[in-house]
Amino acid sequence: MFRDSLIASMRKRWPDLHVELSVPPDPSLGDYSLNAAFALAKKERRPVLQVAEVLAEAIREDHATCVKEVRIVPPGFVNIVLQESYLQRKLSEAYRSPDRYGSSGAGKGRKVIVEYSSPNIAKSMHVGHLRSTIIGDALANVYDALGYDVIRWNYIGDWGTQFGNLIAAYKKWGSEAELEKDPVPYMESLYVRFHAEKEQDPALEDAGREEFRKLESGDSENRKLWERFRGLSLERFSMMYGRLGVALAGGDAVTTKGESDYEDRLAGLVEELSGNGIAAPGEGGALVADLSGFGIATAAMLRKSDGATVYLTRDLASLRERATIAGVAKILYVVANQQALHFEQLFAMAELMKQKGLIRENLPELNHVKFGLVLGADGKKFSTREGNAVALADVLNEAEHRAENVVHEKNPELDEARVHETAHDVALAAVKYNDLRQHPHSDITFDWDAMLDLSGNSGPYLQYTHARLANIAAKAGAPEEAGELTGLEHPAERALMSALLDFPEAVAACARLSALNPLALYLYELAGLANRYYEQVRVMDEEDTAVRGARVVLVATVAAVLKRGLGILGIRAPERI
Ligand code: ARG
Repeated sequence: MFRDSLIASMRKRWPDLHVELSVPPDPSLGDYSLNAAFALAKKERRPVLQVAEVLAEAIREDHATCVKEVRIVPPGFVNIVLQESYLQRKLSEAYRSPDRYGSSGAGKGRKVIVEYSSPNIAKSMHVGHLRSTIIGDALANVYDALGYDVIRWNYIGDWGTQFGNLIAAYKKWGSEAELEKDPVPYMESLYVRFHAEKEQDPALEDAGREEFRKLESGDSENRKLWERFRGLSLERFSMMYGRLGVALAGGDAVTTKGESDYEDRLAGLVEELSGNGIAAPGEGGALVADLSGFGIATAAMLRKSDGATVYLTRDLASLRERATIAGVAKILYVVANQQALHFEQLFAMAELMKQKGLIRENLPELNHVKFGLVLGADGKKFSTREGNAVALADVLNEAEHRAENVVHEKNPELDEARVHETAHDVALAAVKYNDLRQHPHSDITFDWDAMLDLSGNSGPYLQYTHARLANIAAKAGAPEEAGELTGLEHPAERALMSALLDFPEAVAACARLSALNPLALYLYELAGLANRYYEQVRVMDEEDTAVRGARVVLVATVAAVLKRGLGILGIRAPERI
């Protein structure tokens, strides 16, 4: 698209120059504006206007087929006016195949692993996992759109001493009928009871440890129990993924692995690390690796003094497996901020292993995509009255309940079933967009009114705008082919057409920044332009049929791009809300 190709051509001529395109506030000033002349003039110690003229000439030369005019605006801005024919050509392309619009071949032949969600068995998924699931799913969609071969990876927390406690608790108090009824909350209640009774009865502690030891050494009864707990948990997680509309419920492009899958490789791995001088016995007999060479002050612990394996070592084994998959160029881990040190250590360990030839030479790019907390409307950590993380199911129930009110208010005549169905889409839009519109590093706030505000910066607002435009296009009878596209001359029209050009760049920026806010912001601005357009320009009652046809094409294309963009964010765009 124009934006990227302009930046690329400038970079060719001035490799060190930072070029950014902005959109002038008033469309009559041009479609794009460039301020690079100021920096270049300073560097070359030449008058700004003179440098601006050089830039303008370069643009005229390099982009003759799409640029109509390049103007210098004092004190030194370079403003670009695109050719109408170029805007029209791009509009008809987008109109013809909106589902391919914004796709690119950038990732062709490259694989990316996006790890996300990664809940722990025998525990309810909570709002932290919600963020990982939402951000990770959308990021995977972005890579998909860029033509990468995407492997969605779910790394289940299914190993550790706590499962010894669960087994001990179940053997003592467990009931098969209760487990069957509502497995995950029931398992959680067993943990709670275990911890409460441990205070009075310290022998429980030993019992838990003993059950875990038996599990580790393959005791068949414990193995069966653990498999049952695991299976029931995964079933519930799948239901939750279905409800969230994310691509983790199963299928080809999803790899679901547990920490337990790596258990049998850990002894060997630890041996390799010691043998190569990466790890050595530390204080108290644990096995540790010094990472101070990477500026990481905390040594990485790879094995506890009692010989028990740890989270980090399992992750390292898993990383090695992921890195070995042919063609993998990048591995993303969508995991909370709190685990930043863990991932610094993990990546440093991988680097050390690479240096010793223990892992592939051209290690894939490793990236911890961090995200912040979920806060309540009061700005405090979003938690239950007891101070626990809020269960995901409760969040979704509440979102749906509130969305039903919104949908019902908007469409009092809609029947119960349709209200329900639409409210489901609206609720997910509210929850997902509220997360994705911000940079993942920020904490997000759960402010239900704002999240569901049909006229604010919310997911439902974008759905509403889409539905409105799609309805206009449907009623007007959008043509098969875009046709001539005459008469799209209104400034609001032009602003909308040049905004459409920026969609592919918004998608690409998400991959570059490992964040979804560039696309979310883009869609919000596009929706705003479209709503303003519709207020200013007649579409349905335009008398000139050629002009009317062109306007319908424009409206239909904006609707389709909104739908596609929302789709990448994991948000459905129903025909009405
Ligand atoms: N199961 C962990 C948790 O719930 C998250 C796992 C993150 N991924 C990883 N490769 N360590 O906190």
